[in-house]
Amino acid sequence: MFLSKLSRYASSPIREEDYEAFRLSKEGKEIIKLSAGDPARYFKTPKRIVDAYIEALKSNKNYYSDSQGVFELREAIAKRHKKLFGLEVSPEKIVITQGISEGIQFLNMATIDKGDKGIIIRPYYPSYIPYLQIFGGSPIFIDASEENGWDIDISSFSKKIKNEKRIKYMIITNPNNPAGYVLSRKKLIEIVDFANEHDIFLISDEIYDEIVFEGKFTSLSEVANGMPYMILNGMSKSFVGTGFRLGYMLLPNDDPKSSSLLSRLIEIAQMRLSPNTPAQFAYAEGLKDLSAHMREVKRLSNEIKERVYFATKEINKSEYMHAQRPQGSFYILPKLNMEKLKIKNDKEFVSKLLEEKFVQITRGSGFGIPNHIRLVSLAPKEVLKEAISRIDEFCNEHKA
Ligand SMILES: Cc1ncc(COP(=O)(O)O)c(C=O)c1O
Repeated sequence: MFLSKLSRYASSPIREEDYEAFRLSKEGKEIIKLSAGDPARYFKTPKRIVDAYIEALKSNKNYYSDSQGVFELREAIAKRHKKLFGLEVSPEKIVITQGISEGIQFLNMATIDKGDKGIIIRPYYPSYIPYLQIFGGSPIFIDASEENGWDIDISSFSKKIKNEKRIKYMIITNPNNPAGYVLSRKKLIEIVDFANEHDIFLISDEIYDEIVFEGKFTSLSEVANGMPYMILNGMSKSFVGTGFRLGYMLLPNDDPKSSSLLSRLIEIAQMRLSPNTPAQFAYAEGLKDLSAHMREVKRLSNEIKERVYFATKEINKSEYMHAQRPQGSFYILPKLNMEKLKIKNDKEFVSKLLEEKFVQITRGSGFGIPNHIRLVSLAPKEVLKEAISRIDEFCNEHKA
């Protein structure tokens, strides 16, 4: 066999309908795309960042950078974490990646042998799974409870992992994609206590840490208390820079797990030479004026909040679906009332919806939660209104 067995795990439910949507748009159909979490489709990248990118190109910062990432950017990121979360971290503890996606790949490359396990909270961000499986690992799922406002029942964790021997890590996504919840400080401490008790390396994907609508966001670093952990974060969303995105991995502590993982991640980063260099200088410049950056994200986040709240209300007017109002990120995850529909499952729902109503969304089963759909709520309100009204119309036409 030419292809590797493990490569069959490569998949992305978010992109599943892209070819069909492209085909339809070539036929002249106008597709409303609410499938990819891409703020740059609807918001402008701040001029400061664009100018800094152009300046980096013009001043010939077009070389391979340090594999770990240019020092100025790592320093700026360290300062950001100090200002936002009070974390004292040296730039040496940060590795820049080509998006968080590359960070997830590096993490699994560094930690997973055949038969190893990763704990994933369901519903989950889809890429965690194939990256784990491609290196021979498999997930252990723990469910957040939709009925209880996406509560995570920590006491069920211990039962679930009682007989598991090869757990390498646990990932949390906070704020959450796809469910939009934000973990309370109390819940985060419970998760930290659980990870500590079972000696599990904890990873927190905090890419939406500045897109929070109510209450205060708590970073894992604020409660981790010396335990081994890693923060994944990136610039695609809050800088509206998906097209020239960068991510980073931050491992602040000096315990054996964190230190050995950091060294291995740097070796892995060296294999691929470096992330995009002008982008690193652009984001370093963007983070230099941290107050300006925070003002820009606040404005962005307020506008996103308006759109998300509006779309949630519109969704909940339909008798065919119900969604909880997100607390952060920009995703809405309505539950479908399948009993009222003559449709087999959420996969059929999204594919027929695209064919018949030209609205592209994502199936919940791709996030580990069947009979749900995920809508990206970044488009202007009138577009969201039109899309949701077409979804409701579609449901009416497929009424059981
Ligand atoms: C929770 C989460 N993590 C990671 C990513 C990937 O980010 P990046 O563009 O930095 O690869 C996304 C993108 O949607 C995400 O929602």
